[in-house]
This record gives sequence, structure tokens and C-alpha cells, in this order.
Amino acid sequence: MSASSKNLVTIFIDDQPYQVSTKDNLLAGVLSQKLNLPYFCWHPSMGSVGACRQCAVMQFQDENDQRGRLVMACTTPVTDCMRISIKNSHASEFREQVIAAMMTNHPHDCPVCAEGGECHLQDMTVMTGHSAREYQGTKRTFTNQYLGELVGHEMNRCITCYRCTRFYNDYAGGKDFGVYGSKNQVYFGRQTDGALASEFSGNLVEVCPTGVFTNKVFSAHYTRKWDLQSAPSVCSHCSVGCNLSIGERYGSVRRVMNRYNSELNGYFLCDRGRFGIGYVNGEQRLRKAKGIAQQSPVQLSTLDIAKALSHFRLKNFIGIGSARASLEANFYLKKIVGSRNFSAGYNDSEMQVAAQHAQLMQLGKAPNLAEIETSDFILIVGEDITQTAARMALSVRQALRNAAIAKASLIGIPSWQDSAVRTIGGTLLSPLFSMQSTSTKLDDVAEQALLMPVERMSLCLQALQKLLGLGHKKAVEKHINEHFLQESFLQEQLSTSEQNFVIAVYQALCRANKPLLISGTSLVSAELLASIAKLMIGFKQDNDMADPSLIIVPPCSNSLGVLSLLDEHSLSIEQVLTTLSEQAEDEQVPRVQGLIILEQELAKCSENQIQQLRALAKTLIVLDHSENRLTKLADIVLPVATVSEGDGHYINYQGRAQKFTQVHPPILPIQESWRWLDNIADTLGIKVSVEATPVEPLTENDNLDASANIKVNTIAKNARCQSLIQVHQFFAQHYSSWPELMTGMSSKPDDKAIARMSHRASGRTSQMANISVHESKATQKFDDSFSFSMEGASIKQTTDMPFVWAPGWNSNQAIGQYQEHINGPLIQHAQSHFIAISTSLANNPHWQLTNKVASDADKREYCAQVAASLTYVQQQNIHLTEWQSAMTPEFQMLKQSNQLFINHDTAEHMGVTSRQWCKVVFSATNEKMQLASQTVISQVMVLANLPSSLAFGNFPLCQSLTHQLEMKITPAGAQEITDYLSQFNDGVLAAEASKKSVLERLKENDQTIPIRLVSGGLSDV
Ligand code: SF4
Ligand code: SF4
Ligand code: FES
Repeated sequence: MSASSKNLVTIFIDDQPYQVSTKDNLLAGVLSQKLNLPYFCWHPSMGSVGACRQCAVMQFQDENDQRGRLVMACTTPVTDCMRISIKNSHASEFREQVIAAMMTNHPHDCPVCAEGGECHLQDMTVMTGHSAREYQGTKRTFTNQYLGELVGHEMNRCITCYRCTRFYNDYAGGKDFGVYGSKNQVYFGRQTDGALASEFSGNLVEVCPTGVFTNKVFSAHYTRKWDLQSAPSVCSHCSVGCNLSIGERYGSVRRVMNRYNSELNGYFLCDRGRFGIGYVNGEQRLRKAKGIAQQSPVQLSTLDIAKALSHFRLKNFIGIGSARASLEANFYLKKIVGSRNFSAGYNDSEMQVAAQHAQLMQLGKAPNLAEIETSDFILIVGEDITQTAARMALSVRQALRNAAIAKASLIGIPSWQDSAVRTIGGTLLSPLFSMQSTSTKLDDVAEQALLMPVERMSLCLQALQKLLGLGHKKAVEKHINEHFLQESFLQEQLSTSEQNFVIAVYQALCRANKPLLISGTSLVSAELLASIAKLMIGFKQDNDMADPSLIIVPPCSNSLGVLSLLDEHSLSIEQVLTTLSEQAEDEQVPRVQGLIILEQELAKCSENQIQQLRALAKTLIVLDHSENRLTKLADIVLPVATVSEGDGHYINYQGRAQKFTQVHPPILPIQESWRWLDNIADTLGIKVSVEATPVEPLTENDNLDASANIKVNTIAKNARCQSLIQVHQFFAQHYSSWPELMTGMSSKPDDKAIARMSHRASGRTSQMANISVHESKATQKFDDSFSFSMEGASIKQTTDMPFVWAPGWNSNQAIGQYQEHINGPLIQHAQSHFIAISTSLANNPHWQLTNKVASDADKREYCAQVAASLTYVQQQNIHLTEWQSAMTPEFQMLKQSNQLFINHDTAEHMGVTSRQWCKVVFSATNEKMQLASQTVISQVMVLANLPSSLAFGNFPLCQSLTHQLEMKITPAGAQEITDYLSQFNDGVLAAEASKKSVLERLKENDQTIPIRLVSGGLSDV
């Protein structure tokens, strides 16, 4: 990029020339040059407010000006040839005095402060040279608050920089936190004690430059930052794929910190990503294999596995993969069982959704989070992204500020002048429209937010598509109401509020230059995705509109990885059951020996389906890291590594392949899924994929894939893979379907491995002194780019940094030293890789939607049906929707009691009032004409804008209920309410007890440190 396109000008800092961008303020410009200038209130992502007066520099009019004037660098624009001095004695004395003033009330409790060793205030104090404490008076003190189980509070350490409230309220839209002042007592917290309600509360820990807000889970089992062993990782809890740095000590995961990625998470994570790692240390972890005879009492060996599986050699299995397992593990499973025996664990409806999703992925690359923030129009359809892809919702909130930023720029106020832009902008927001089946946290910033069942969302999208088809936007916009009246379908089928919604969306789209459409798979509606596809095609017509970008949010960290593996042969769970039951009826044809289930809890399967799977599978082999209903039923259970214990790749919602790296080796026999599958492949003999096999005449001795009657060869694979690199090479050599770019992404370390520990780590001698004063050998691993030690190369300036540190910068704000420029990509950043999603899944007629063109009369009848039936939708929850994070005890303690939202008419009809405790009976007749029902004790909440055909709540309904339900609500009896509440409270107490017992166990384990010497699978000790 040329200097002019970056708006670069020359400025003189202490008489030295530097090229600095005029797009940002002087402080950002100085820090981009890797010069040290202290600051507190400015944040690279939140801009400047000039609250702390710490970033003072001397500015001179020209080279003859000897006097200069003090300016705050963060509120000063960069101009060509400007001259400033950081070293000037007045400026540095001023900065030192600012720190001295702050320290008058700040407790000097660094030795016991959780922030010690990574505190921005410590760093800045050293940077300014302030070292002597002169103030002898009494310090101002505060009472701390209980802010929930995730974030701690120690207000005495506050230096009044306002970053916390700027993040929590202004940036993340939180409502239950703020700044309260009386005289010189300024307090940052809640009005009363209570758990912070924001999905982003954990960012306070990183945003606060001191130790006011601390990670409570980390503090409970604390270690200093420099004693953590860390590795670059990727969040395993949703499809955004935020980059993380996971820190571990003595075999237990201690905390998760943000790992800067300029295209995705930037500086912030959601609470699920930061605190949801609790399952790694959890009580549900599987630590032993089940169903395998162990020869040695000490350890399980590969020979034991081989013996246990030997009688399955060359037998066929059905493999059920998982969207939370790595791409490598899923690919390997598919190759072991063959394309025709592979399932993603999706039911029929989910397979239809997957087929539509694969088609939509062909429409172009979905924008990353940084690109979302540049949008000037957003329509969200049927996906509560604050709960299912939370970091994305934070980016949507920033995009809404673009209207205010544009207004401010008209009068010369740059975007980084945060306070001024907010003042000028007032309540002005870029347009956000939302169609949902449940209330969402983005409703308060939406221009219009409508609640409706998913079928009506499709109708609204069809209406919008019709408007697009009418031609040039100016002509349509001018007479839009008439167009609506002319189209009988539009005016007859849409309610007035829906018509107004569609018209408003169309009008806002006419003005948009960078529109964005976001939807997802939460409502499991293939029809909704098909309507979106048609709408997107509508934009390509001659209507003069800017084409919107499209994001489809799937549920899991590797949903797209699994989607890339699905093809026309892939099975749904129903088809797996049919295959198993057909062969059960004809014992002479043993086509499938059983099931291999990979990291999959089959949450959408009913208990009945699970029992059928168990009964029909001759052998049930389950690989998972934590106990679930399948591991309890399995014949063989193989305990697998979690995201912090292994290597692999996840594919995010865009198709972006990202590597997670082992932070600590697991305690054997736990090993990564791909290692178990490698053991299994070795024993069973793996088959060349159907697509890679030339079809040759069959001979008598050929091994047949009976279901396909296609010749199958076996690869003589005698040696197990020792590293992910070897796995990739093996895949690349034998399977044409393995994406080449994945092999390119994993290369052998060409120079010294990067140290996972900081150079200040206490060292192995000290760590194990209670056992032996002799230094143990560091853990080693084959083909690893990182060492399990403080020995090794220091962190590199790339996206692969295990943790962030720079000389003089111990806090996470050291990241500025590794960015090309502030907020820019990292120096030597790795190139982003995107894998292709094939549409072959849609070639299977089972997963296609019927393309019958419905007449208007049909549509009317259908609309009447939808309006007459009841749809219940379960609310998504950031803490508890995702299976892994839901095991975190601190999240379980945040669970809320049952709430059911209905509209006024329904409440009146049932004779109940808002907040009343009721007994709710849901019932439905399924396809086999059996009546299924479920009774729930719940508080009823009445919502004015909810259609009577829709109800939503925070409790799950059993799988055997279809979505068209009957609902009977009666006031609950006193005893029923008491019983329910006592059961609910028992759940919270159990979570609290689990939290305590995990902590006790971990602390006890610290006394017998489980350090392993090598790290390469079962035979490595
Ligand atoms: S609590 Fe922390 S972030 Fe908030 S004003 Fe005080 S020092 Fe700043
Ligand atoms: S759960 Fe999703 S949004 Fe939250 S940190 Fe993880 S990847 Fe990011
Ligand atoms: S960083 Fe400049 S005034 Fe606070």
C-alpha cells in the first residue's frame, strides 16, 4: 500500500522523523512506531476521551519553537511536519506527577494483587520513573461488590480512567453497570450487588489497567502470569473461532485470555469463550478407557487397544462425527468408515439445513468481524447472535455507530474522538432490523425488531424479494405502498406490522452502501435458508441495490469443517437407525459391526432414539472427553483430549481454518481423538476413499463395501502417526479429498521451537522442589513448533504467539508492540486460509426442498395454519446452550428459573397474569398418532409484541414434541411451586459444591505434579 493510501505524513518526535498515519491520533501514531508513551484511558479499540492526562507530550510550533505547549497525545490529531517531544523534561515531569497523584489513593498491594506481574499501572509507573511515595495521608477506600461468579471487584485499586464503564456501557451496551460519584468518591460498579448481566463482562478484566476487576475463576486457583504455560488456541464454543491464549499450570487449565486477531476478535472475547473452559478440569472428565482389558496395572498400551479391537478387523462401522471435534478427527473417522457410513449426527431436518447452508456458502465469502464493523445496514433473521455467536454481536453494535461517526466527520470530528462522536451522534444509529422468535439483547438498538414464528420470517423475506424484483430502487421506493397494495400476496398475508417492517427494511436498503444479512441454523429451518438464498439472488437483479454480504451462523466451533465433509452419501441419524434396524432384521448380512461415535452427545436425539441406537448397534465405541448418556451406554469408551490438550483445526463460520495448539499434554490414557482413530485404523485396516479408488473388475478375493458394491482397497498402514504433521502428510498422500491448504498450513518447525512458558517462569527445579530438587527433563513432542519449557525461542511477532509480552510491557497491552500499526495486523502475520464447501450434499434428493410453486390460495391456507398453531421456541443462552461450556460450575450457578413468555391475549384467555407461577402442559400428537406431553412449572411473563402463535422460554421441551403444540396454562399450586423452587435451588447448590470439589482436587493435585516427559500417545512413557 502506498504512503498516500495510508494517509502517511512525516512528523518529528524528539527531532527524529517518523511516518505516521493521519487517520489516527498522535498517541496511536507514537505507539505504532514502538515508542514508549504511557497512557490509561485511551484504548486502541475504544478511542480517546482524555480522562487520565497521562499521555502528555510537548508540542512545538516549528523547529524554532523552544517553549512548546503540553498536549495530550490521545486527543491530538496528527498533522504533517508536526514536532513533538516525549523526552522533554516538562512533559515527563508532568506524566510522573499524574502517576504520583493516582498513587496517593492506590493501595501498594502488588504482592497480593491478582494483576501483579501483568499490570498496566505497574508498567506505566515504571515507564514514567515514579518510584518514591511522598503522600503520607489516609487513603480513600471503598466497599467492594459481589459481581457474580466470574468477575471479582477490588475498587480501592481504581485510578478513575473510566475504561470499564466505556467498555461495559458504551461499547458492549450493558445496562447494569456504571459510574457513581459523590465528591471525590467515584465508584465503578452496579447499583447493588449482583451478577453482571453482560455477555462480555469478562473483558473488564483485560480492559481495566489495574486490578479492580479480576478473573474470579483464575484467582481461586491462582498463579502468576509468568508461571503459566500457554499456547495459541482457538475457542471451542461457537463458530466465530475467536483466538485465545490458554494458560495452564501443573496439568490444570487456569485461564483464557484474548489473543489478538485483527480480522476476528480484536481485543475482546465473550464470557463463554473466556470462562467456559471449566469442563477441562471438570468432574465429568473421562480419565480411563472402558471396555478394554489392560495387561499392565500401570498403564494402557497400544497393544491392549489392538487386542480389544482385533476381532473387528476389516469389519464395517458407521461413524458419527461431530461439529465440536477437530477437522482431522472427523476426516479420519470418515475415511475409516467410508463415505456411505458417515454421519454428522444430524437428524433429517438438520441435514436439510446443512444442504441449504452448503449452497449459501457458494454465494461468496462471509465477512469477518472487522468487516462487519464497516457495515451501514444490518438485517438479522432468526438467530440470537448475542447468545450463539456473541463476539459477532459486539461487532454488530460497533457497526451501528457508523451513522454517528459519519455525522461527526461532517464537522471534522475524527472517529477516534470517542466522547465527541457520542455527543454529536446522540442516539443516532445505523439501521439494524431484526426478525426473531425470541427477544434478544440487540432489540434495544434495532430500528425495528419483530417477533414471529420462523415460517412468517420466510414470508417477510419473500415479500422483500418481490419488492427487489420490481426494478430500480428509486421508482419502487417512491411508490412502495402502492406496490404493496397491488400485490395481493403481500398485503393479504402480512400483518400491518410485518408490512411496515418490510417497507422500512427496503427503504433502508435503498440507502445502504454496505448492507449485511445475518441468519443462522438455530431454528433448524431449511425453508428459511432457502428464502434467504432467493433473496440474495434477488439482489443480483436490476434494482440498483448494493449486494449484501451474508453470514450464516452455525452452532459449533467446527460446524463448517463437518459441512465440508458431508456429501450425497452422508447419513442422518434417522438413516443410521434405519440401516442398523434393516440389518438387524436380516442377520445373514452383517454389513455394519456397530457405531463409532466421535465427541458427540447427540443432544437433539430423543431418549428413545438413543436407546434404539444402543440396542441396534452390536458394538458401540464412543470417543469423548466428558461423560454423557452415550458414554454410559457404550461397550468401549476412549477418553479424548480437550482443546487445551491436543492439536487440530477448527473451521469457523466463514470457512477459515484455524489451528489450536496443545497447551499441556494430557494424562494418559487420554489422547487426542485423531490418535485414537489412528490406533483404530491400524487395527481395523483403513480403506481408500470411494472417490479415490479406480473402479476395477471385482475378483473373488476383493474386500467389498457391500452397501455400495464398490471395490475397496486397504492401505498397509503399519506405523502410527506421531504428530499432526504426519497425519496431514498421510491424508495428503492417500486421500485426494484432503484439502491441500491444510497440509500447507502444518509445516515442520524450521527453527528453534517457541517457548510455551515465559523466560521468567519459576522453572522445573522450583516447581517440583517438594518432590525432588533434581531438575526433570522437559516434556518433548515430535514435530512441535513450541517447547514445553521456558527454554526455546522467545515469542514471535506472529499470530502464533502463545502469550503476549514485550520489554517494559507486561500486560496484554504489549500487543501494540507486535502490531504493524495500532489496530493493524500482527507483524509477519500468518495468511488466512479458507476451505471450500462442496454442494454435493444437496445432490441427495432426501435433503432437497420440494420446489413446488405454491399458489396464492395455498399460501393463504398455509398462513392460516401457522397462525392457528402454537410454536414454542427455546431461548439460546450464552452460558448453557453449548454442551461443553454448560459443564462449567460457575455457569450452572448462573442458571435462571423457568420463564415462559406469552402474549396478552393468551394470558387473558388462560386467566393468568404476568410473573405468576403456573403449571404449563405442552402436548402434541406425533406422526405415529401418539400423544406426547410435558409439564413444566414456570413463571409466566407477558410480552406485548408477541404474536399469539408464538411462545418462548428458557427451558427445553422433550424431543418427542413437535413444534406445533397445544399449551394449557393453569396457576400452579403452592406445593408445586415450593417443590420446583427447592429442586431449582438444589441444582444451584450442587453446582456450588461441584465448584468447590473441583478446586480442592486441583489444589491437591498440585502437590503431585503430573508432568509427563514426552507427549506422543499411549506408548510414549
Ligand atoms: S475500575 Fe479500572 S477501568 Fe474502571 S475506572 Fe477504575 S481503573 Fe479504570
Ligand atoms: S464463544 Fe464464540 S464469540 Fe465467544 S469467545 Fe468463543 S468463539 Fe468467540
Ligand atoms: S491516555 Fe491520553 S488522557 Fe488518558
